[in-house]
Amino acid sequence: MAEPKENLQMEKIVSLCKRRGFIFQSSEIYGGLNGFWDYGPLGAELKRNVKELWWNTMTRQRDDVAGLEATIIMSPEIWKASGHVATFSDPMIDCKTCKGRFRADQISEIPCPQKPSRMVNECAGEKTEARPFNLMFKTHTGPLESDENIAYLRPETAQAIFAQFKNVLETARQKVPFGIAQVGKAFRNEVTPRNFTFRSREFEQMELEFFIKPDEVIQAIHGSVATISENPQSAIRNPQSNWGWQAWHQYWVEERVRFYEGIGLARATLGFHHQTPAELAHYARACTDILFKFPFSKKDEAGNAAGDELEGIAARSDFDLSQHQRFSGKPMGVFDEELRAAWAKLPKEKQDDLWKRYYEHRKNYLTKSAKPDETPEQISQQATEDANGLAKGQYLPHVIEPSAGVDRLILALIANAYSEVTKTDDKGKSETTVVMKFHPRVAPVKVGVFPLLKNKPELVAKAQAIYELLRPHLKTVYDDGGSIGKRYARQDEAGTPFCVTIDFDTLGEKPELLDTVTVRHRDDGKQERLKISELLEFLLSKIR
Ligand code: GAP
Repeated sequence: MAEPKENLQMEKIVSLCKRRGFIFQSSEIYGGLNGFWDYGPLGAELKRNVKELWWNTMTRQRDDVAGLEATIIMSPEIWKASGHVATFSDPMIDCKTCKGRFRADQISEIPCPQKPSRMVNECAGEKTEARPFNLMFKTHTGPLESDENIAYLRPETAQAIFAQFKNVLETARQKVPFGIAQVGKAFRNEVTPRNFTFRSREFEQMELEFFIKPDEVIQAIHGSVATISENPQSAIRNPQSNWGWQAWHQYWVEERVRFYEGIGLARATLGFHHQTPAELAHYARACTDILFKFPFSKKDEAGNAAGDELEGIAARSDFDLSQHQRFSGKPMGVFDEELRAAWAKLPKEKQDDLWKRYYEHRKNYLTKSAKPDETPEQISQQATEDANGLAKGQYLPHVIEPSAGVDRLILALIANAYSEVTKTDDKGKSETTVVMKFHPRVAPVKVGVFPLLKNKPELVAKAQAIYELLRPHLKTVYDDGGSIGKRYARQDEAGTPFCVTIDFDTLGEKPELLDTVTVRHRDDGKQERLKISELLEFLLSKIR
């Protein structure tokens, strides 16, 4: 049977990743470990660039976001509060014949371990009922492997942000609305890791928790909440103090799409999935997934792919801070003088209206998250206290969470960059080569420096001097092996956007070209002559 085209594309990508040192199978010499991947020399540079661009965009270029770098192992109480201990699980089905264990929602797509050519739903073996299987990796802290010492490798970076919310708020001298950003490893014991790095067991996340005022607080201060229709596309980039959660959610979706565009993923390669009420977590108000059209993404009958998730942007209400407040017993709310002053000036009916709505929201949350021993009276009393806090300028911030996977983005960038060029020479012989068309901002190597000939000391000395000039500022490689054409092809495969050749004109063979070099552009092969004195600034201007 012919190989489906999209799988062929993935095969080519996986093979290039290994051949050129983007991504290797973890522990390959021992047969590999399913769901774990290592980044080789080019992959490590690519990943570093992506994380640095995210960090710069999300923290350093903004006044309203601070960074955090928390530990991977944290108090297990965090995962009880977040709900991961109780509910972070996939429904699993065991096959009594082949002893395989499969995700219930994927059972028709998985090869049987005993007969890989057969899909599991064809395997005659009797299946168990679906049972929950927790995805967190467990370990123990200290020398005793007892239940008291259980700890988990974090399944997301987000919870550390919530747990450290008050410390960051105070030390970064921020006020709501503001965000906390973190990049780091996350671990999930995925039952069926697949699609190369797309679903891995160890991966990295880039997460922002952006804390905002609840809509009731915005109404108390500003009279009303700006709605989406008042924030058309052109205005959504300029945050306003009267924005409620919907405008902030829309703002972050747009910001994140712009980030992807800025690193070479055109809007046409992306898709969106707006989670339906049935898909949303009980505490979430909305979640928009940004999708990328991967080669393995399912296509409809017309051949169009919706894409697979790169990032989710969720409006999570005040669920997380509320949970940590309840479980830790430590206050997670903020004091807002503007609210206190505005509340005192509100007419009684407005106060009553906002109080009631905030009370209902808190009661709803407390009821859904109630511990078994909590009575409706206790819940009602707590919700009353929370709503009474408004008059004192106190509330629990809500949160908008743009949560992106580094590894999925790397895979998207690689798939997006992959292109083949076939050239036919004068004798009619065709050759197909790979050109990785990375945006210069993310390209693992920015520039290749070549002396035209390696046996001419003057050329070599000049080329070495240019290499030393560039390398403190840009990832640069020096290559003097083989013909210039071969060297270009090597850099095309690595995705290097610029190659600089030092030739006899550089040395002044044509006096008017003294101290100039040839800069060759990867995507169209065009060459231009530039002064060495202008080279660095030229290259830097392309990657800013
Ligand atoms: N804090 C929210 C959260 O963790 P998520 O949708 O479970 O939400 C966020 O994960 C992002 O992390 C996903 O959009 C995806 O890019 C990445 N991600 C999640 N599971 C992954 C896995 N097993 N392998 C690779 N990336 C994963």
